[in-house]
Amino acid sequence: MLVTLSEILKDANERHYAVGAFNCLSLENVMGALQAAEELRAPIILQLAEVQFPEAPLDMMAPLYLHAAHKASVPVCVHLDHGQSLETCVRAIRLGFTSVMFDGAALPFDENVAVTSEVARIAKAADVDVEAELGKVGDSGVDTADVFTDVEESVRFVQATGIDALAIAIGNLHGHYVHTPQLNISRLIEIHEANRLPLVLHGGSGTSIEDFKACIHNGICKINVATAIQRGIMKRITECLAQKPEEGYIPLKQVMTDASRDVIADHIRLFESDGKA
Ligand code: 13P
Repeated sequence: MLVTLSEILKDANERHYAVGAFNCLSLENVMGALQAAEELRAPIILQLAEVQFPEAPLDMMAPLYLHAAHKASVPVCVHLDHGQSLETCVRAIRLGFTSVMFDGAALPFDENVAVTSEVARIAKAADVDVEAELGKVGDSGVDTADVFTDVEESVRFVQATGIDALAIAIGNLHGHYVHTPQLNISRLIEIHEANRLPLVLHGGSGTSIEDFKACIHNGICKINVATAIQRGIMKRITECLAQKPEEGYIPLKQVMTDASRDVIADHIRLFESDGKA
């Protein structure tokens, strides 16, 4: 069943687990995600980032995500990840997404507040929820890029914008980590104590089990995972191609769906969202 972000995160916030938000770029990713969620009775978020549009166009993916969400027997939120402009957020809202993220983290604070507030005002009129980001979640390989979210700024930001969830920077990076990161859990605790809204961890792939557990028990209610899914598929395809095909061909679509399902199921269990739907 299709739900909004605040609906799906409310229970996670109360019961201290995180809902997995999985970037799905293909039919196989979406089918695998749905299978994992239904088998484990877990709520999930299907999401697509604006930087992924060249590979997976928004207009083509929207009907797929929405169909999957409507037919699912568990709650599914359909979310725009890292929208880069007000216009992109409006496009996703018009296509039926139940949640959008505007990412103004690279903007000066006041500008981030101004655009995020405008996105929130428009989204609310359409009963759509909003995630925004404060502090900089860098990309792996760019080690100068991460600046932790400031506690006092986070309070002003949340109050001024009226958002439903806040993505924070506590040493997390997007992409494939060269070294396992060490997240700043004490900063997370401070941000959580100062703000009672659900917090979001980006860059979930490659985080240690200890840090995942510390995050979900201290206010992180949504964890984004992208790279681990595509790496899981690549690994499974490589293994299959090394074997001699029995039927004269290898059913790669099935391999991709199964690999997506398995990676997503592992993360659902780690985030303790299994059995919550
Ligand atoms: P990873 O690719 O590191 O899992 O990050 C995903 C993400 O944060 C998408 O917004």
